[in-house]
Amino acid sequence: MFITFEGIDFSGKSTQAKQLYNYLKRKKKKVIFVREPGGTKLSEKIRELLLDKKNDNMTNVSEFLLFSASRNQLTNEIIIPYLKKKYIVICDRYYDSSTAYQGYGGKIELNSLSLVNKIASSGLIPDRTFLLDISYKDTLKRKTKTGTEDRIEKRKSDYYNKVAKGYLTIAKQNRKRFRILDAMQPKEEIFIKILKDLNI
Ligand code: TYD
Repeated sequence: MFITFEGIDFSGKSTQAKQLYNYLKRKKKKVIFVREPGGTKLSEKIRELLLDKKNDNMTNVSEFLLFSASRNQLTNEIIIPYLKKKYIVICDRYYDSSTAYQGYGGKIELNSLSLVNKIASSGLIPDRTFLLDISYKDTLKRKTKTGTEDRIEKRKSDYYNKVAKGYLTIAKQNRKRFRILDAMQPKEEIFIKILKDLNI
């Protein structure tokens, strides 16, 4: 089973993804946890390029293709081989992140984006995707004043509002695969909903 977690920065998706991983591990299930961008040697190098604030002249298309390259490495080096070994694979972000950030938030035309997403994921589709739904305004309350922002997090409210809305549109277009969770609820309650849904 391939499970992905999506949401804007500070939605709490990584907390839930890791909690699920730890829970399944305790239950002695065969499970691995990976994150995007990153997860392989090459993908982690691409991650550095993507998040480095010095790369402020990166074009939208380069950005999208780098995320896609990182994804294809992760998919073929880790995700597919582990799924073949009957592992549960938990991934913190997958191609829906590109649709939301580079498509709805950025300037990549959605039809072309969807085609590249298919290539980058080698046709693999998550079995379940949890969307931690939260408004950009609410995430501001969670940010610590001292925290440093990466190249993408530096973008402002207009961008993040579009990304958050984009996620909801994607979820509504893929109702069977998606579960929308209210990210403003206590994290314990959100986790119970995830477990109930997965029935594991
Ligand atoms: P994130 O998982 O939020 O990293 P962190 O460990 O810092 O929480 O991902 C880093 C950033 O990359 C985040 O702002 C979202 C962005 N992103 C995209 O814009 N497109 C993508 O396809 C992916 C996977 C991430």
